[in-house]
Amino acid sequence: MPNATKNGPPQSPRIAIAIMAAGKGTRLKSKHPKVLHEVGGKPLLAHVIAAAAKVVPAKDVYAIIGHEADRVREAVAHAGIGFVLQKEQRGTGHALMVAREALAPYDQVIVLSGDAPLITPQTIEKLRDFHLAKKAAMTLLTAQLENPTGYGRVIRKKVDRDDVQAIVEQKSLSPAQKKIREINAGFYAFAVKPLFRHIDKLHTDNPHHEYYLTDMAAILGKVKQPVVAVEADDPYEVLGGNTRAELVDIDQRLRLAKCRDLMAEGVTVFYPETCVIDSDIEIGADTVIEPFVQILGNTRVGGDCRIRSYSVILNSEIGDGVLIRPGCVLDGARVKAGAVLGPYSHLRPGSEIGEGAHVGNFVETKKIRLGKGSKANHLTYLGDAEIGEGVNVGAGTITCNYDGIHKHTTIIEDGVFIGSDATLVAPVRIGKGAYVGAASCVTDDVPADSLALGRSRQIVKEGWAKEKREKMKVLKTKS
Ligand code: UD1
Ligand code: CA
Repeated sequence: MPNATKNGPPQSPRIAIAIMAAGKGTRLKSKHPKVLHEVGGKPLLAHVIAAAAKVVPAKDVYAIIGHEADRVREAVAHAGIGFVLQKEQRGTGHALMVAREALAPYDQVIVLSGDAPLITPQTIEKLRDFHLAKKAAMTLLTAQLENPTGYGRVIRKKVDRDDVQAIVEQKSLSPAQKKIREINAGFYAFAVKPLFRHIDKLHTDNPHHEYYLTDMAAILGKVKQPVVAVEADDPYEVLGGNTRAELVDIDQRLRLAKCRDLMAEGVTVFYPETCVIDSDIEIGADTVIEPFVQILGNTRVGGDCRIRSYSVILNSEIGDGVLIRPGCVLDGARVKAGAVLGPYSHLRPGSEIGEGAHVGNFVETKKIRLGKGSKANHLTYLGDAEIGEGVNVGAGTITCNYDGIHKHTTIIEDGVFIGSDATLVAPVRIGKGAYVGAASCVTDDVPADSLALGRSRQIVKEGWAKEKREKMKVLKTKS
């Protein structure tokens, strides 16, 4: 609620968001920190930060980090948030104790869990608004779950009342309490002053020997501070990823939701449950995604494209009206409007495919520019090459770009025709409009409009085969 000030209009409360992200994640049995495990193509913590930074400015978001702190910090530092180091992880209550200094200048703090990535800005706002409206010292977000096992349970003072008496962790539940389906989601809002006035009352007298932040409900209640609970609209938003199975479940939910969002924006995704599309991917309207397609990382796909089955596209930019036939692999590629790829093309980093260009079956490209309307349709390797417009690269062509130490560039100017099975030994330049005969090994530059032949002449020995057969026949009858 706004504070009344002497000389001015009421001020809005200063609100921080603290994200608990210091835990090891023992239940994942992983050498990587829990909050860096990925769902929807990015770390758990990155999802939570993204939601938090939509509610308060990023500078007021603090991640409490500890286990593998440097790695965690590095992975999310670009978000512009603050960090608090919890060197030893002695529980969620302890996480807040070490954040005391960082949070002291604020009036309110919203606490989120770094391992619960489905939380939305709307729900964080709902928690904030309820907390402020109730003038509570502590507000917890809850959810009704079919299967509440593993979560802390909410003990309300009376059913249908907002007031909370306590939160009881799974391991300490009485048989009657086990029946409670309302769980503590692990998201809280606290008034900063009462939180830190009483936080030192937390103790480690529990099965995990940790300081439980959840115990603040009973502690604040005892000193007559209001503790209330508000239920999330969608229980799915509060799911936490403590185990591999839970992470996979969250990942699937995120990806299905992503497909639904894309469809709402005019993209068709056939059999969405077979597709893997990362959370931040953008795709234009009227694009059709066939089953078993993966679109990952920092990829943008234009409108009116068709991406056929079994293609995997990572960190690439695809223009409008591109056809990607089955089984293509793209990594760090740019494909301009109207291009046609595949089936089975492999575009490696730095491949730039021009407007209307074709890259076909079993063609591998790396660090090349293929000009407008040019074609490399079959069984070809194009690496470190600049290829102009209207070029035809015959089947089986290879740019020999590597001499064992250095990479060299092949330049193929506009309108060149490269016959099949040519080997172009870089550095080499094929001038505008030139022809390279099939099976040529080109080691020297080819001037514009000329024909290059780099192979030995054909020899024909008439009657040779017939003679050989007859000799064989004689040998056979003798033996
Ligand atoms: C916690 C709650 C439980 C709730 C559940 C919701 C407690 C004691 N229990 O249990 O009531 O139902 O979340 O998902 O809080 N962390 C730190 N420092 C620590 C310990 C943990 O930063 O010293 C972080 C973890 O990295 C994690 C978050 O706090 O992101 C929650 O910790 P976790 O161990 O997963 O708690 P739960 O057992 O899930
Ligand atoms: Ca958890």
